[in-house]
Amino acid sequence: MLLRAEAWHPEYLLCWVAWRHRRGRHEDFGKIPMKIAETIEQVRREVAAVRAAGQSVGLVPTMGALHEGHYSLIDAARDQCDFVVVSIFVNPTQFAPGEDLSRYPRTVEADLAGCRERGAGLAFLPAAAEMYHPAAKTTVSVANLPETLCGRSRPGHFAGVCTVVAKLFNIVQPDKAYFGAKDYQQSVIIRRMTADLNIPVEIVVCPTVREADGLAMSSRNANLSPQERSEAAALHGSLQLAADMICNSAQPAGEVIAAMRDYLAEKAPSGQVDYIQIVDSDTLADAATAQVPALVALAVKFSQARLIDNMSIM
Ligand code: PAF
Repeated sequence: MLLRAEAWHPEYLLCWVAWRHRRGRHEDFGKIPMKIAETIEQVRREVAAVRAAGQSVGLVPTMGALHEGHYSLIDAARDQCDFVVVSIFVNPTQFAPGEDLSRYPRTVEADLAGCRERGAGLAFLPAAAEMYHPAAKTTVSVANLPETLCGRSRPGHFAGVCTVVAKLFNIVQPDKAYFGAKDYQQSVIIRRMTADLNIPVEIVVCPTVREADGLAMSSRNANLSPQERSEAAALHGSLQLAADMICNSAQPAGEVIAAMRDYLAEKAPSGQVDYIQIVDSDTLADAATAQVPALVALAVKFSQARLIDNMSIM
């Protein structure tokens, strides 16, 4: 309650007004009827109407199983654009045979409720046949950048991502598109593709959202056992260890990586390190010396989930 005299200080009042404003907006969002489209034609029709009203469009591409990380992207899009489209499509072409396509969590009803609550105007849930014509022969791939980090153990993955994202950009034609920094390599590749193909969209990369123990939010966290879940916080811990080492002084990258491996072996024994790399944040080339600025990235496989995380050390 705002009863004490200092509660009427202008700073308190401004905070309260901002909080009421955001809360009010969230309450209102739930009442705005969000539309759901399953076809490209429906999306084009909805977006054309928005454009005709002179409004800007933000796109949040997702594979569903939405969590606070995705919702932070929707919030950013809602703050920066008049109309937000969220695509929910578990894109088969970015999964290699034997990867977790069939295990990928699917929570459509909760996702739609969340999108509605956060103020999306349109959810696009295409079937695979809507996105990929059986006669399709075109894929989009970016050279070199996929040959490191996740691309090494997931050949073809980024061609699948680029193809579906390019198609979503063509279908929705957004002013801005929102991606999470957790998928750092993906964001670098998508920026490159967008520039190379002169696609008129601004790529906005939003910070990783973390659980209280530091674990980066990911739809795949749902596939961790309770034991693996408690160990998985060590991924972030190992990145913090690297940050401590690098901030103090430049080090051979190999020594930092070895220290991270030791840390993970002790704190997350159920996980198997896929890679730990220290790279240039633009070219993604391996750095021989770990020094600020540096991008430290890793992937760790648990029994049913491969988790990735990274830290940009400035
Ligand atoms: O980051 C993801 O969830 C996916 O790779 C994306 C960008 C939605 C493409 O399927």
